Amino acid sequence: MAPQGLALEETKLARDQLAQDVERATGGDVVVERVLGEGRMARVYQAEQQSLERKVAVKVLLPRRARDRSTLIRFGREARAMAGCTHPGIVSVFSVGETSRGLPFFVMEHIEGETLEERLRRKGKLPLREVTRIVTAVADALTYAHGCGLVHRDVKPANVLLERGTGRVLLTDFGLAKAVRGVTRITTLTGTGEIMGTPEYLSPEQAERGEVDARSDQYSLAVMAYEMLAGLLPFPGPTPQDFVRQHVEDTPPWLPRVEPTIPVAVSKAVDRGLMKEPGARFGSAEAFGQALKGASEAALAAEPRRRLWWGYERQLVQATAIYAGAAWGVLEALTWVLETFGLPMAFRQPALLLVIGGLPLTLALLCYARNRPRPIEI
Ligand SMILES: Nc1ncnc2c1ncn2[C@@H]1O[C@H](COP(=O)(O)OP(=O)(O)O)[C@@H](O)[C@H]1O
Ligand SMILES: [Mg+2]
Repeated sequence: MAPQGLALEETKLARDQLAQDVERATGGDVVVERVLGEGRMARVYQAEQQSLERKVAVKVLLPRRARDRSTLIRFGREARAMAGCTHPGIVSVFSVGETSRGLPFFVMEHIEGETLEERLRRKGKLPLREVTRIVTAVADALTYAHGCGLVHRDVKPANVLLERGTGRVLLTDFGLAKAVRGVTRITTLTGTGEIMGTPEYLSPEQAERGEVDARSDQYSLAVMAYEMLAGLLPFPGPTPQDFVRQHVEDTPPWLPRVEPTIPVAVSKAVDRGLMKEPGARFGSAEAFGQALKGASEAALAAEPRRRLWWGYERQLVQATAIYAGAAWGVLEALTWVLETFGLPMAFRQPALLLVIGGLPLTLALLCYARNRPRPIEI
């Protein structure tokens, strides 16, 4: 018998007309398994592609959004943007299609794992090494997209996928991506004056004037880096209007004050990435990633040596004390046994040698056990 959770999931799917429409449009090649996520514009399913026996993700436009012509255009643009920009850090698109009700969808590689948003919700903040790895990977993907003439415009943790097992970091959701030459004003493009992007991560120029170029993606990436390091956003909001004002006017709390373990050089790189004036930031997302990497590697290289040295010293004292106590106890007990049973005291010599010989071995084992390199989570 199917477990109850699965039965419920199937009932939910049976009512999901959209999933059935997608399956029919692919001639049954794609079989939808479950909903992965849903945003303002689209729903994303996990599915199985029968012909190639592989997991895929399918993103389909929501029926209520299909009446809006600009959304339709944007959705088609997203698939083309992702398909035309092949990079290990950008989710690959396999095919596009349209349901019988005229809803566009595209089939893409399925990333087994979690979003950065989910990881942050689970862990609060992330270690410097992990932050550096994620930021440099997203920076590389962004730099590549910028080279393709695309600005992402919605860089945020919910759009960063972390693959389980391989540790791959992938940028997704190019739904707001825009082909941009130089600085482009986007309010005229939407025609509604509606702010595009997510208020928490908007650059000041995007929030205030609707202007975007590669440097505004770099700003959003710096907001993300700040959030990963501090465990909270640089600006607290909470309303969209508050976020816009804070991005334009406020200075975020100094990172080492929020989280004292953050090296000053790392904090300086993030601060530069968060400059209000686009010209004062890094020249590219890649330059930001590299600056953060350089600062964090220098700090990490200096720190373990300090920690290890202090660790060894303390452990040596502790281990010697414990060992000396235990050895004294063993020798006392042996002496008592020899005296009680009238055995020759010469029997003490081998025990003494064993105790003395065991000391360096015990110390070495203890130090190794305490200082062995720990794997970082991928
Ligand atoms: N290729 C994928 N593999 C696995 N999960 C995905 C994939 N694409 C999207 N998702 C999941 O679906 C959610 C919504 O996808 P996204 O493209 O960001 O849509 P939206 O435009 O609605 O924000 C993501 O946050 C993620 O949880
Ligand atoms: Mg999204």
